[in-house]
Amino acid sequence: MKKKIIAVALTAVVALGSLVGCGSASNSSSGSTGETLVVGTNAAFPPFEYVGDDGKPDGFDVALIKAIGEKAGFEVQIQDMEFDSLVSSIGNKIDVAIAGMTVTEERKKTVDFSDSYYEAVQDVIVAKGSNIATADDLKGLKIGVQLGTTGEFIADEIEGAEVAAYNKAVDAVNDLNNGRVDCVIVDKNPAEVFGAQFPDQVDVLPGTNFDFEPENYAIALPKGNTELAEKINAALKALKEDGTYDSLVKKYIEE
Ligand code: ARG
Repeated sequence: MKKKIIAVALTAVVALGSLVGCGSASNSSSGSTGETLVVGTNAAFPPFEYVGDDGKPDGFDVALIKAIGEKAGFEVQIQDMEFDSLVSSIGNKIDVAIAGMTVTEERKKTVDFSDSYYEAVQDVIVAKGSNIATADDLKGLKIGVQLGTTGEFIADEIEGAEVAAYNKAVDAVNDLNNGRVDCVIVDKNPAEVFGAQFPDQVDVLPGTNFDFEPENYAIALPKGNTELAEKINAALKALKEDGTYDSLVKKYIEE
């Protein structure tokens, strides 16, 4: 999907996001052939997940987990919810989560992770013409982030920063455009989508300019369920080998 189309889809995310509630709890047994795998996501994170024109979650992660389901023999059911609720919902409302989620030591206390499927970094979105350029410039600023994300954890460590956490990253970008925050820290690919959505208002600065560390995205899994982990990892490996993974990268991320 092209960035401009994603930008349009983003409007749908804003419009529909609040209508897509969290519904029934999972009663599936994960991963067995023909059974349902309830997958949590937060469809406000293009190009990895957003609400498509048909009102259903779409994006790289959604396509990837469906392909994994096909290989591993379970039917994938997507559940859209707040990003901040995903980890604690694994094992009760949902079976697993795919949401551009970075592997962190803190999260590993609660969940296991699949093999990593994407490397990213946090970028910094600033108002056009801003003179924010290096890590030092972030000190003491008002920084917008998505609640419960690694962007928030990074912002929390910045000296003197005042952190404003939003349920959706796009709300932080809207507040940047309104002058309510000085910058937004968010993952690179969504940052680029937002940059394309507001080309006259913002610039997207690479996180490497601010010494941010690379991050690895993986699927969050119930702790200790090695059988499910093995199935998902085997399917992911097969999709990398047969070219499906690359074609999804092309379709959703690179175009
Ligand atoms: N990679 C970041 C993290 O793990 C942000 C992920 C946000 N994902 C989403 N679907 N909203 O914290």
